[in-house]
Amino acid sequence: GAPVEVFIGDLEPGQMTRVQWRGQAIGIMRRTERMLAELEGLGDRLRDPGSDVTGQQPEYAKNTYRSIRPEILVLNIHCTHLGCVPELRPEIEAQPFDQNWKGGFYCPCHKSTFDLAGRVFRGVPAQLNLLVPPYHFIDEDRIVVG
Ligand code: FES
Repeated sequence: GAPVEVFIGDLEPGQMTRVQWRGQAIGIMRRTERMLAELEGLGDRLRDPGSDVTGQQPEYAKNTYRSIRPEILVLNIHCTHLGCVPELRPEIEAQPFDQNWKGGFYCPCHKSTFDLAGRVFRGVPAQLNLLVPPYHFIDEDRIVVG
């Protein structure tokens, strides 16, 4: 599939937009400072906190935020268990699933949970972090996925 250009200039903090690339749903989210701070402390509750599993992200996304610019998340939002599309549940206060969960992506199919960098929590059916697709910035407000 051809690369997809996405304008993110009007993306509010905490908001996610979606595009399709190669038949996959790609979420592009502008994370808030608070969301980024939460990602720092999740370490041992995650299966692969350092994104060490090869192939789940490009080299430039191998960091805590799994992104080029910390606030901008670009993520293939198909669950790494069986491919459902998880719901974005960023609200940290409302956590019906797990008291330790700080919000993120919740897969309704078999209850896998991921943080707001797409990192999978321990003890859920999914074993791998959500995929970060290849992407780059053209300028401050435009991304190309692919
Ligand atoms: Fe997401 Fe099974 S497809 S938990």
